[in-house]
Amino acid sequence: MYICIEGIDGSGKSSQTLLLEKWLQEAGFDVLRVFEPSQSVVGNLIRSMLQDSKASDINFQRTLGLLFAADRMILMEKIRKAEIKGSIIITDRSFYSSLVYQDGEEWIREINKHVLKPDIVVLLDIEPETAIKRCEGKDHFENVVFLEKIRKKYMDLAEKEKFYVINANNGINKVQEDIKRVIAPKLGMCI
Ligand code: TYD
Repeated sequence: MYICIEGIDGSGKSSQTLLLEKWLQEAGFDVLRVFEPSQSVVGNLIRSMLQDSKASDINFQRTLGLLFAADRMILMEKIRKAEIKGSIIITDRSFYSSLVYQDGEEWIREINKHVLKPDIVVLLDIEPETAIKRCEGKDHFENVVFLEKIRKKYMDLAEKEKFYVINANNGINKVQEDIKRVIAPKLGMCI
């Protein structure tokens, strides 16, 4: 089972994936938790490129799109192995992030055609103003107008791809409970 948590910057993905990992481990599952960009050389390159002032230029974004796809391909090896072992994989972001952050849907789908698609996608939906307060000054992506645009793209994609949308304006514990309510039945668990 490959579970993905998506959402705009500051929506709480990293805290929620950590809590989800802990809950599933305590329930006896073997869990692999990953995030994108990953810790590979390509992931580290992406992270340093995201600090660049040119990061919103179209060609720079295309380069990032290719690098995100490459980073994801590297990560797939780990994910495939975990799937074979029967582990639950939890990811903070996936190829869906490229679909909303980078332009050109057809091209993004093409360069990501060999990556595994998550079985369940939980979208943490949050007001950009709230999100931005949580991650002030981290990189160029974090401004309200930009996050508003990304949020809308996520909501459109959620409808098309049947994501589970959760209100992430709530407190951390309430959001986690809502996530558990989505995941538990998929794993035959009672909560
Ligand atoms: P983020 O999840 O914020 O990572 P970190 O916690 O290490 O800062 O991701 C970094 C940025 O990368 C974020 O603003 C979204 C962006 N991004 C894309 O533009 N495309 C992608 O495919 C992915 C995975 C992330």
